[in-house]
This record gives sequence, C-alpha cells and structure tokens, in this order.
Amino acid sequence: MILPSLLACAALASPALAACSREQLEAVTAAYVKAQAAGDPGLLAFAADASYLENDKVTAVADGALGRALAIDFDRSIHDTTACAAFTELTAASDPDPRVIHTRILLAEGGEAGALRVAAIESVVARTGDWAFNATGHLYWTRQEAWGAIPAERRDAREVIQAAGDAYLDSWGDGGVTVPYGTPCARLEGGAYTGGRAPAANTCTMPAFPEQFTVGNRRYVVDEELGAVSIFNDFPFIDADKPEGTPSTNLIRVEDGKIRYIHEVTVCTNPGCGR
Ligand SMILES: *[C@@H]1O[C@H](CO)[C@@H](O)[C@H](O)[C@H]1NC(C)=O
Repeated sequence: MILPSLLACAALASPALAACSREQLEAVTAAYVKAQAAGDPGLLAFAADASYLENDKVTAVADGALGRALAIDFDRSIHDTTACAAFTELTAASDPDPRVIHTRILLAEGGEAGALRVAAIESVVARTGDWAFNATGHLYWTRQEAWGAIPAERRDAREVIQAAGDAYLDSWGDGGVTVPYGTPCARLEGGAYTGGRAPAANTCTMPAFPEQFTVGNRRYVVDEELGAVSIFNDFPFIDADKPEGTPSTNLIRVEDGKIRYIHEVTVCTNPGCGR
C-alpha cells in the first residue's frame, strides 16, 4: 500500500489518499458545513500539518471565514472518491455580511486505522463588491436547479466531465475552443443568472474575451455520480488590478457529456473588479 499512496501524493502535490469512500467524504462535508455555521473549526478533524488558504492567501483558520459563525441558507457538496477530496458551495444570503463560499477540501489518513483528517482547505470567499455578487440572487437560482444523482448507466467518465469544464475555461481566452454546452444550459455568475427568461435554452455560451489568455493554476474536484466538476483557478483579465489572475472558481454540472449548469464565484481587488 505504501507505493500507491506515495504515487498519489506526488500526482496531487498534497498528502491525499489514493481513494476513499463517498460516505467518508459526505461525513467531512457535513462536518464542514456545521463548522462554518458555528464558526467553530474545532468541529473538523484537521491533520497536524493542515493548510488553510482563503482567496489564495495562507490564513490562520481562526482568522478566516471558518472562524466566524455564518447564517447558511443553502449548501451543495460534491465528493471525489478517486482523489479523496470534496467541494462545498455555501450560500449565506441572510447573514448580516452575505457571502457565497466555494471550498475545496483534501483529506489524508489520520492516526487511527481508516480515519480521515483534513489535510488542506482552500476557500474562495465572495462578498459584496466581488464579481456580480448578490447572495440573494445566488440563493434564489441555485435552489431551483436540479443537481441530483445521475442514473448509473448515464454517468460520464471523470475525464469527460473534467474535459467539459476545461473546454469552458479554455474558451474564454481562445475563441477557437469548442465547448460542449447542453440545451438547456444556465450560468449563475455571482448572483446573476442567464437562464431566467429562457429556461429551456442554452444561455451559457461565452464569447471569447477581447484578448488571449490562459486560465492557470487549475485545481479539480470531480464527482461522477453528480456529473460535477469544481475548478479552482486564477482568472486573468477580469480584475483590472490583478491582470495576472484573481481567485475564481467554477462549479459545473455535466449531463450526457454536455454542460447543464455553471456557477462562477470570482473575487475582486476593488468593487466590481474595477470595471
Ligand atoms: C439580487 O438578486 C435579487 C433576486 O434575484 C434581486 O431581487 C435584487 O434586485 C438583486 N440585487 C441587486 C443589488 O442586484
């Protein structure tokens, strides 16, 4: 068992396990939601050398979003049994300081046999002033979407799901990339929704940006059961004060190889990314 674990570590550049069960991961995301609601990081079992990043900055857990109670209205999680990782989207519209948070969690083996520890958490925390931010709008639209389990015989391979998400990100800075958009397809960008007026149409198509760029530092969580991929990335161009890339995430649902939903959360240096 030692060799596969080491290989997995090298591939993920983090001390994650080669694989773990859906039940284990669901327990972790449930604990994460409780910990964030309470503002009590102690509800999570952290590894001794765990890392915590918030909007790409190393942060002391107690000083970050997780150290402050949050009125969470809605949460949605995906679980990657192959990478032993999970992702949670939190919508907190009724909080006095409304937030939408995308969090990626990597797990590692704990002290006891079979136990998992949180090895790394990275969150993109969006608040008022961030790109198209509107937690009320986010809550309204996310609640209407259907992200249920895809029947086993219709599930896409993780490579297909990830490739659909990658094509979407690639298309921003390269108009020559074909993106497998479905019909319907809707994008929730901050709190703005493309699918409100024409819910049966593909309203996701993103024209190429006025300049070429590459979206780098992509970090993935893939859930074949939900047809979902979360892609943390550095988004160049959009933030006038951070042309090299601002913290951004896309959560994408793929059905029959085609993109059905996109949720984007992007952090801005200055209100509205200075645009
Ligand atoms: C936020 O979204 C809600 C629900 O769609 C909408 O009623 C409200 O006007 C929006 N607020 C802003 C500032 O755009």
